[in-house]
Amino acid sequence: MTEIEWWDYDDAAEMAGAVAGDVQFVIESAIEARGAAVIALSGGKTPVPIYDKLAVAKLDWKRVTIVPTDERVVPLGDAMSNVTMIAKAFLPKGARVMPVVPNATADYKAAGRSADALMQDLHWPLDLCLLGVGGDGHTASIFPGPDYEEALSGPRERRALGVMPDPLPPEAPVARVSLSRQGIVTARALMIACTGTDKRRVIERAIEQGPSSPHPIGRVLADVELPVDIHWAP
Ligand code: 6PG
Repeated sequence: MTEIEWWDYDDAAEMAGAVAGDVQFVIESAIEARGAAVIALSGGKTPVPIYDKLAVAKLDWKRVTIVPTDERVVPLGDAMSNVTMIAKAFLPKGARVMPVVPNATADYKAAGRSADALMQDLHWPLDLCLLGVGGDGHTASIFPGPDYEEALSGPRERRALGVMPDPLPPEAPVARVSLSRQGIVTARALMIACTGTDKRRVIERAIEQGPSSPHPIGRVLADVELPVDIHWAP
């Protein structure tokens, strides 16, 4: 059984401060232990205030490498690009933000393979993976579709892969590159930040359903060995 702890806040601003503080602590500990930190940060809209708070933390940012948990296969700079949003917050601080999809391409599988090759050069496991969850229960870009089982239970050494969601999510209806479940659940610290009662219900149900959940978040979290912190605000 996965050990889950919920952290509830009054609002998104309070959650942002708390999650930024936790991520800062993880980064400091990794730098102290190893001289460097490698973290994966989610895309979407929810984490933007978290990143704004985290970016003003006094940290040795040059020692921090950031990858997105997932990226939409769009050109860098596109409004849908997760890494573009993350880079806006952390590049000016001197962090290394890795654009895992440097070019838009029609071949999402090839984009996934080159992201995986880039990821292989990082120090593994990740010091932290901060996930978001969609209203449909997806996390990172692990979606039902032709790549679903590969994302959930592909080869252990596969860190990232190309994913074609089916159906395409309306908020960003494009192919993706995502960390694999294996890349996510082997992180030293695993956190989720989410808002809204509907998402909370989806996550709670998915956790109860475990490996048989129809929601990716349920399957990703089933039988995870490390404790998972879920930060939530209404
Ligand atoms: C993506 C994300 C994704 C995100 C959720 C929640 O690119 O789609 O990284 O996993 O975390 O969709 O997104 P919101 O925070 O915008 O609701």
